[in-house]
Amino acid sequence: MDHLTHRPRRLRRDGVRDLVSETSLSPSDFVAPVFVDATTEERQPIESMPGHERVPLDDAVARVEEVLETGVEAVMLFGIPEAKDEVGSRAYAEDGVVQEATRRITSETDAYVITDVCLCEYTSHGHCGVLTSEASERMEERCSSNVLEDDAAEDPDLTVDNDETLELLAKTAVSQAEAGAEMVAPSSMTDGMVGAIRVALDDAGFSDVPIMSYAAKYESAFYGPFRDAADGAPAFGDRRHYQMDPANRREAGREVALDVEQGADVLMVKPALPYLDVVADVRREFDRPVAAYNVSGEYAMLHAAAEQGWLDLDAVARESLLSIKRAGADLIVTYFAEGVARSL
Ligand code: PBG
Repeated sequence: MDHLTHRPRRLRRDGVRDLVSETSLSPSDFVAPVFVDATTEERQPIESMPGHERVPLDDAVARVEEVLETGVEAVMLFGIPEAKDEVGSRAYAEDGVVQEATRRITSETDAYVITDVCLCEYTSHGHCGVLTSEASERMEERCSSNVLEDDAAEDPDLTVDNDETLELLAKTAVSQAEAGAEMVAPSSMTDGMVGAIRVALDDAGFSDVPIMSYAAKYESAFYGPFRDAADGAPAFGDRRHYQMDPANRREAGREVALDVEQGADVLMVKPALPYLDVVADVRREFDRPVAAYNVSGEYAMLHAAAEQGWLDLDAVARESLLSIKRAGADLIVTYFAEGVARSL
């Protein structure tokens, strides 16, 4: 071989590779989702998310302490309420499951508590907002006549009423802040949600509580296991009329810009791995912290393959999170938080 000026391998040797590494993972990059379940007295394993459980209120503090032991400092709380209704009233009840858990966790631990602001776990129909009157009539008809075909799914006007939902989301965020939530994370993809929540928080004296907006949230099939975990699958139809179309990349820029205008402090892209192009775009185009949600399906598929002996779970989990950071995320909401933090 003649002269070779460039030998990238020189910098891949042990001793120097860490010096030139562009990306690193730290437990402080992660947010661990925690499910608190008001319907149970005992921890319930979540079958499609190995290693995760729904915990009763009395175990919420203990569950968060387990997270903190791994070095992860932030949790995102999801609630399974004792009862559901048409308007998701347990989402904004003062003694709701998330409010109660937040009170206990913030008074007894040092965890940074982020709360999910959405109605889908709290509504009887499982949608992320209140239904249009047309949709609720249809729903009643379907229940009384036992009609199973999904005609309502076909009509965009038959799902949620965007503007009616805003007030309930704002109430939910305020009730969570009153309970001690340090950050709120609206995930319902309701147009105007960030602005409505910002105004309501400010009016209630919580101008210091930041909003992490699920700014570009796609209508993804990767949420399947979460919907088992949080019992939030829609009873009819799907979420394609409010969550983003997976085909659209440029639209994410418009969605995110709206949330920035309305005062979002942190911009989230969700899911993460199948949408790294979007994570990279948001990083490049907006000077705000970027979060990515490595969702339940991304977690479940690696576990399933590892169980078959086809993948090395620790290695693929770490590589996944590293890739999400490399694409531009500053923080990652992930079910791998504890496992990966422990291995770092
Ligand atoms: C609620 C919400 C969902 C997830 C987080 N918040 C479900 C959905 O939109 O259907 C999914 C998280 C995951 O899959 O890990 N709106």
